[in-house]
Amino acid sequence: MNSQTLFKSHFQYPPTSSAKAHGRVNLIGEHTDYNNGFVLPTLIEQNIEVSMSLRDDSKIKGISSEFGENSVDMESSTDGSWLDFVRGASYYIQNEGCKINGLDLAVTSSVPAGSGLSSSAAFEIALLRAICHLTSLDLKPSKIAEIGQLIEHQYIGTQCGIMDQMASACAEFGQALYLDCQNLNTETIPIFSDHTFMVIHSGSTRKLSEGKYNERKKETELASEILNVSSLRNATKDNLELIKDGIIQKRARHVITENERVQKATQYLKEDNALKFGNVMNESHQSMDDDYEISSPELNHVVNVSRRAGALGARLTGAGFGGCVVLLLPSAKNDEIKENILKNCPHSYWVTNIKH
Ligand code: GLA
Repeated sequence: MNSQTLFKSHFQYPPTSSAKAHGRVNLIGEHTDYNNGFVLPTLIEQNIEVSMSLRDDSKIKGISSEFGENSVDMESSTDGSWLDFVRGASYYIQNEGCKINGLDLAVTSSVPAGSGLSSSAAFEIALLRAICHLTSLDLKPSKIAEIGQLIEHQYIGTQCGIMDQMASACAEFGQALYLDCQNLNTETIPIFSDHTFMVIHSGSTRKLSEGKYNERKKETELASEILNVSSLRNATKDNLELIKDGIIQKRARHVITENERVQKATQYLKEDNALKFGNVMNESHQSMDDDYEISSPELNHVVNVSRRAGALGARLTGAGFGGCVVLLLPSAKNDEIKENILKNCPHSYWVTNIKH
C-alpha cells in the first residue's frame, strides 16, 4: 500500500501533499562524516513515503505502516515515539517562516529499520519534502539535509554526521556520491558497469540511539583535542603515538585511514578498477572490526562467507553493531554468490543490488 492510499483509508479524505525519499548504502567511508571527512554512499531502491495535510488544531495524527497509529500535541515535548521526527520537521520549517499548526500524516516504508540503510534520514527527507510542498517552501537539497541532521540531533538524540541526509537528499541512482563533509561539496561518479554492489542483511539489527554511536563520536573528539586539530580530517597517522590511550588511538587511526581509503576508492571507481576497490573495502572492514570495534560476529560471518564465495570486497555498512554488509562482485557471478551467502549465513537475507 502506498502512503496516499493509507492516508485516505485512515483519515477518510485525500492528502494535500506527498513525497518520498530513498535509503542509502555507504560504499566506503564509515564514521568519517562527523569528523569532517569523506564518504561515498549511493541510493537504494527502498524508500519511505509520506502523505500529509495541514490541521487547524495543534495535533499531529499519524499512521505508519510500520509503527502503527499515534497522536500527540505539536507543543508537547518529545516522547521517544516516531512522531518526534514530525515535531522536529515542523519546528524547523516554522523557523523558515512557515506556520504549521498540526498535521495528519500517513507513512509507508520499504527501508528496513535498524539495518544501517538510513531509514531515519529517509523519513526526515521525505517529511521535509512533503512539508515544503505543503507550505510552498523552496529549500535547496543540502539545506533539507542539514535540517534532517538537526532533527536527529535535537529530537531523536543521535549526534549523527551529515552523510545519510545528504545521500537521501542529493544522491542519484546508479551513481556514487562523493561527499566532502566539511563543506558539503559533492561529485557524482557512475558505479562500475560490469560489477555490482550487493546489500545483504546480517540478520542482527541495531539501534542507533543506543549510545555506542555517541560514545565513538566523543572518543574521536577527544582524539582531535589531543592532536590539537579542529577535526580528525586534519590529522595524520604520523602523530598517532601522541595519543597515549590505546582505545582513543585506535579510534583515531580508523578515521584517519578510512579517509585515505575513501580517496583511493573514489579514484579506483573513476578508473573502473573493481579489484582495487574491493581491496580497500576489505581493509575498511578490518579497520572497523579491529580499531573502531563496531562489527559483530554476524557481520563478520557474512563478510567472510562473501569473500570466500567470490566477492572482491565486503564490509559492514552504516553505523555498525549489526545491520548490513555491502559487497562488490562481478555481475556475472551474482546468482552464484548470493545463493552461497544465503545458504551459509542462515539468518541473512538479500536486500538489494546497486547497478550501473
Ligand atoms: C550513521 C550516521 C551517519 C554516519 C554513519 C557511519 O548512519 O547517521 O552520520 O556517521 O552512521 O558512517
